[in-house]
Amino acid sequence: MSETTLLGLCGSLRMASVNRLLMREAGRHFGAPMVEADLRLPLYDGDVEAAGMPEPVLRLAAQIAAAEAIVMACPEYNKAPPGVLKNALDWISRVKPNPLAGKPVALVSATAGRAGGERAQTMLRAMLAPHRARALGWPEVLVGNASEAFDAEGRLLDARYQTALSGLMERLRAAAR
Ligand SMILES: Cc1cc2nc3c(=O)[nH]c(=O)nc-3n(C[C@H](O)[C@H](O)[C@H](O)COP(=O)(O)O)c2cc1C
Repeated sequence: MSETTLLGLCGSLRMASVNRLLMREAGRHFGAPMVEADLRLPLYDGDVEAAGMPEPVLRLAAQIAAAEAIVMACPEYNKAPPGVLKNALDWISRVKPNPLAGKPVALVSATAGRAGGERAQTMLRAMLAPHRARALGWPEVLVGNASEAFDAEGRLLDARYQTALSGLMERLRAAAR
């Protein structure tokens, strides 16, 4: 039997991103190799779209279409999801048919603040509604004080976060069937 295909979308572009660490930890719990999408897309511009869908957007759309499950790591910027994710979702909404429709999606967040990006994650869930993605509602994975949450190998230190992440990935695997 072939392995379930998991695609990771990280809303932070920086190398040392705690959200990327969390996304990779989610991938380990999922138990299948994870492809990491590149969200360095041009800013959405209708004139650019009219001239032809940019190649990185088409690549992302194809990766989403090929994935059986998706994990989105959502940083919180000023109590909202980062523009990187919003921009990617806006581009993807212009691809017909929308490859996110019906896809099971797990959301995870890591932030400097104590609330772990709860507000941003709630907004991201609402942003996914027009895409008709199947965003899982629980367990919520919201890692606060994230600069101290991982060890040198990028593993989550707190057993409670590991339990929540494991439960979320188990549900994602079940939803991908
Ligand atoms: C523009 C900006 C806005 C931020 N706003 C918030 C915020 O609203 N809440 C929060 O907990 N952390 C906030 N932070 C801190 C981020 O949680 C922290 O930088 C985190 O490491 C970013 O995620 P990353 O490591 O995956 O890039 C903000 C950081 C930046 C750069």
